[in-house]
Amino acid sequence: MVYAAILGYGTVGSGVAAVLEQNEKMITKKAGEEISVKYILDLRDFPGDPNEAKVVHDFAVILEDPSVSVICETMGGTEPAYTFSKKALLAGKSVCTSNKELVANHGPELLRLARENNCNYLFEASVGGGIPIIRPMNYSLTAEAIDGITGILNGTTNYILTKMEREGADFGSVLQEAQEKGYAEKNPEADVEGYDACRKIAILSSLMLGKTVNYENIYTEGITKITAEDFRYAKALDQSIKLLAVSKMTEEGCMVMVAPFMIPAAHALHGVNDVYNAVYVHSNMLGNSMYYGRGAGKLPTASAVVSDVVDCARHQGKTVMCFWDEEEVELADYRAFPRRFFVRADAGLLDEEKAESLFGTIETIRLENMPGEFGFLTGPMKETDFEAAKNKAQGILGRIRLEDWK
Ligand code: HSE
Repeated sequence: MVYAAILGYGTVGSGVAAVLEQNEKMITKKAGEEISVKYILDLRDFPGDPNEAKVVHDFAVILEDPSVSVICETMGGTEPAYTFSKKALLAGKSVCTSNKELVANHGPELLRLARENNCNYLFEASVGGGIPIIRPMNYSLTAEAIDGITGILNGTTNYILTKMEREGADFGSVLQEAQEKGYAEKNPEADVEGYDACRKIAILSSLMLGKTVNYENIYTEGITKITAEDFRYAKALDQSIKLLAVSKMTEEGCMVMVAPFMIPAAHALHGVNDVYNAVYVHSNMLGNSMYYGRGAGKLPTASAVVSDVVDCARHQGKTVMCFWDEEEVELADYRAFPRRFFVRADAGLLDEEKAESLFGTIETIRLENMPGEFGFLTGPMKETDFEAAKNKAQGILGRIRLEDWK
């Protein structure tokens, strides 16, 4: 029997208990022995809940019980999750987490503590919810040199952008509706400003490089400036607009950024809609591979946590390899990477001739019923050169990067 404890009985934590209960027999077979939740740590009580009797309010009860060998940390946030995880690992108890903030902030240290104490720190649920992506990167693609990751890593923003595209609606109204329906948080900043995707791509980039990518060094731009007009142009260009988290090996090193991009209909990520997430990985032997599914939600995310618990049950007293050192990587400057841009311009302030003189050869696009403006696509240019041209131009209404696509 493997005894587990759940820290935090919220959406994901209660999902972990539900997955373990619903798939009990099959999980027992796959783990090689039964997994039983012995404690649930929460500040609250849950009268009437079937797990009511397992609720404790003091982490010490769990820490001091030698029979508990696996902790599911589904609290979120850095503290007290960080302190509890460290204490658990130092006591030789494995930790399975859905907490991307903690993994992005302290992942390599917690992995080292797990190695030093012959247990595991596993975090499949921290990126892409229920989508297997950490395990494929750690175990399945071990024969590969991964040199590019492009992800739709945030369900809330993908839902908003999909609705804007389908309904021709503005960001503000779709966000409000998403909040009313519970698809977006009351404070949506972490999602719509790209911070959540930033932490997730920091984790994936660290696994790609085997060293630490500090999320604070990642250029991050959210979707708040994307308009209904942008989608009209995108449609005319046979493109969509997605919040992409991009990590690519370049001659100058690893370039990581989060921003809205136009992507063509032929791109595999183009059809990833609603709350779905997908991670598109390029590696040198396999080529492109994609991992797709529900990137959030109670049961999908809990399923990933439980898959880690099963891994712990299968590897008791042994640390599963994860290549992620504490050494921090210096990232390449995203502005030195040539790419194409879509630009919207006020026709009263900028004409095509002037635009070409500043941005080089352009492809112009004009839409019906929008006589006051036009759009254009630049050729590949470095972001620094694009910004210099943009600063000299008058009447630029907006710009969106084009995903480099081969
Ligand atoms: N807020 C996140 C999202 C939840 O929308 O994807 C999963 O990390």
